[in-house]
Amino acid sequence: MTVELRPLGVKCNIQCQYCYQNPQRDAGNVLQLYDLDKMKEAIERESGGFSLFGGEPLLVNERDLEDLWAWGFQKYGRNTIQTNGALINENHIRMFRQYDVSVGISIDGPGELNDVRWAGTLEKTRAATDSTERAIEKLCAEWRPPSLIITLHRANSVAEKLPVLHRWIKKLEDMGIRSVRLHLLEVDDERVREKYALSIEENIYALRSFLGLSYELKKLKFDLFDEMREMLQGRDNKSSCVWHACDPFTTSAVRGVEGNGQASNCGRTNKDGIDFVKASVAGFERYIALYQTPQDDGGCQGCRFFLMCKGQCPGTAIGGDWRNRTEDCEVWKTLYRALEQELLQEGCLPLSLSFRRIELENKMIDHWGKGENLSLLQASSS
Ligand SMILES: C[S@@+](CC[C@H](N)C(=O)[O-])C[C@H]1O[C@@H](n2cnc3c(N)ncnc32)[C@H](O)[C@@H]1O
Ligand code: SF4
Ligand code: SF4
Repeated sequence: MTVELRPLGVKCNIQCQYCYQNPQRDAGNVLQLYDLDKMKEAIERESGGFSLFGGEPLLVNERDLEDLWAWGFQKYGRNTIQTNGALINENHIRMFRQYDVSVGISIDGPGELNDVRWAGTLEKTRAATDSTERAIEKLCAEWRPPSLIITLHRANSVAEKLPVLHRWIKKLEDMGIRSVRLHLLEVDDERVREKYALSIEENIYALRSFLGLSYELKKLKFDLFDEMREMLQGRDNKSSCVWHACDPFTTSAVRGVEGNGQASNCGRTNKDGIDFVKASVAGFERYIALYQTPQDDGGCQGCRFFLMCKGQCPGTAIGGDWRNRTEDCEVWKTLYRALEQELLQEGCLPLSLSFRRIELENKMIDHWGKGENLSLLQASSS
């Protein structure tokens, strides 16, 4: 399992207006110092390698980055980083090549489409976006094409902006980009919702448009659609954390290590600015409760997509309360229905329509009650 290493905690060079880490910044919980030895010891306590994360990991000085990547390369054979890309320079690219660093870049589109990833003034924001776009080109030309994360909001994914985003994605495919992750906007603040969030219908329209685009693209993949198709067929060994009954107090998919070596959780469920210490035992109360709670009361009772969705990421739960199902339920249901139809047309019976659905649901509930998170593959093979 890969560790998310956050040497400087949530410290960042820009101020994305929607960032789920803002509650922590607002509370003043921003680490300024790190200790290389403590971080390495903490990584060694976990199995697998580490991915540099933040905040913005490229705020770490280049000497220390080289130390970490040389160590990571020697110990694990490769490295990864998730960055906003605005600070990438020639020396970083040299280190990416030398220490086999795979790069993930977050950008919400070209030029003004990326304005919500704010850098203080409009001029600085556009300059930062320009740097990120140049970095993507350079990585494609001189190293490995980065994978991208695009977050969907009013500045890039309302109907009139989508054609611009689609054209850009086609251009990225021509440049060599092969993997794009689409994020629905997680809303932690009602002012952010008012200004930037898409409505349910707009989110559905945007995701359907990307699904349509995916049929036109030859090499670039949106992993979201592939994962949802796989989940519908009971294959969950490669899909991401949001479909895996994540416990907000242990977030097993994200084993964070802070600059002082402390273990931490994924920040998405951290709504009050406090990075609580990781719990030692996972609990699955959310999933047992969701299965039995009527949908009108924030649960998932009776939903035929429960096996694949499980109420989705607790960080997106209704009212910011992890016990509820995701507030994006209608978006996911609509997309699952569309992909379900697609599979039926291909002659494949999705798990959502299978006679085994209830039996498998009961099996999962039974194991959650014992503190075990059974995979769909295990459930259907036992
Ligand atoms: C918190 S950033 C940290 C790493 C790095 N600074 C970056 O921008 O990639 C990790 C990812 O979370 C995404 N993100 C932040 N806030 C979000 C939100 N409210 N909803 C959806 N995605 C969000 C960012 O766009 C980015 O892709
Ligand atoms: S809180 Fe959400 S994003 Fe974070 S590990 Fe859990 S499911 Fe994944
Ligand atoms: S689609 Fe909605 S009701 Fe169904 S499992 Fe997901 S969150 Fe729950």
